[in-house]
Amino acid sequence: MKDLLFVNASQVVTCAGPARARRGAEMREAGILRHAAVAVGEGRIAAIGAARDLQDAYTNAEIVDCRGGVLTPGLVDSHTHAVFGKARFEEHELRAEGHDYMEIAKRGGGIHASVRDFRDRSEEELYQLAVPRIQELVSYGTTTLEIKSGYGLTVDDELKALRVIGRLAERLPVRIVGTWLGAHEIPHEYRTSASRRGEFIDLLTNDMLPKVVEQGIARFADVFCEPGVFTIEETRRILEAARRAGLGLKIHADELKPCGGAELAASLGAVSADHLAAISEKGVAALAKSETVATLLPGTMLFLGKSTQAPARALIDAGAAVALATDFNPGTSPTVNFPLMLTLAVSQLKMSLAEALSAATVNGAAALGLAGETGQIAPGFAADLSLFAIGDVRELPYWYGARLCVGSWKAGAPCHPYESGSKLNARSPEILLPG
Ligand code: NIG
Ligand code: FE
Repeated sequence: MKDLLFVNASQVVTCAGPARARRGAEMREAGILRHAAVAVGEGRIAAIGAARDLQDAYTNAEIVDCRGGVLTPGLVDSHTHAVFGKARFEEHELRAEGHDYMEIAKRGGGIHASVRDFRDRSEEELYQLAVPRIQELVSYGTTTLEIKSGYGLTVDDELKALRVIGRLAERLPVRIVGTWLGAHEIPHEYRTSASRRGEFIDLLTNDMLPKVVEQGIARFADVFCEPGVFTIEETRRILEAARRAGLGLKIHADELKPCGGAELAASLGAVSADHLAAISEKGVAALAKSETVATLLPGTMLFLGKSTQAPARALIDAGAAVALATDFNPGTSPTVNFPLMLTLAVSQLKMSLAEALSAATVNGAAALGLAGETGQIAPGFAADLSLFAIGDVRELPYWYGARLCVGSWKAGAPCHPYESGSKLNARSPEILLPG
């Protein structure tokens, strides 16, 4: 593998620091350098410094001319449901007419609709559907993404979902982490009585979990802990079993109504508690004291038509570690555009740009147990990099909805291919470059 030397970036956003999540005030430091060059050897960041010095030291390196763009750590999207079949656009208009997400789910839509569709599709078909969706996601600057199962909800269909995730991880040039979300919904066939419901929890813990662990693709287990879906007690049971079986833990917590999901995540030592739009004050305090990353998904609240968002300010000001993610899924967040989440973070969650950058890189990595591997441009870390056609990183959330990424690399290999000979499609007069 050839050494690389990235030169002529107007800014390099390093997010460099300790190999752990940034919490509270630490999130305000994104490590923005001007006129720095970055050397890559054997897929890892080798050095950061003045271009002249690095050019002398890395004479054989292939030069990547960033042409005045901004280089960042590859974005880490730590919460997606990117393997699914059909789209669910009908529900979007139903919500506009006043039918809410949980009501649609009770009538057999929502996750249930995706589950019926998913079970009817082959592994090959689901793989073929996922590839272009993920390629598009990558084209916005993401180089690491987590993908959850959770639209199968039978042993065979959950294993099928995870096999698709495993194949994607093997074949696509992006870092992919798999999560088992067998507890995404109680399937209709188990909703007929309390004992049937219990049988589903037994199926998850006694039958599905051991097979998921044996299959070896999922690193984490997740549960949709929400009034009307899984209770706190059921969530605890499922996640304690998952922890005993060796999986890391995540929770869809306090998304729509508060029920103590954040507190449970903290007490179980979960790697992340996700959503949190309805988190309580106690929940904020519990996360602030814990190692659990608070992963906020502002696209979901926007798309569901809610006027509230997770209390990012309260979480950060209390000292919690906050990450951002797309929640890419067919029901509540059909977007692959991670920079758009940065826009929402600044405009809706009142985060500073540096906080949003920390949340989208190093803290996303921590939410996947990868804080020592990716999310920073610092010596020894994987050379996961994204290049944006902007002259100032503040433009990343500013040109909202735009695709500004012009190239990305995973461990030094092209992820979203960059043609360094082409002219950057820059939007600011300041960086319209010659040539
Ligand atoms: O993160 N809340 C649960 N799961 C997804 C939505 C899944 C769906 O509606 O298909 C979420 O919002
Ligand atoms: Fe989700």
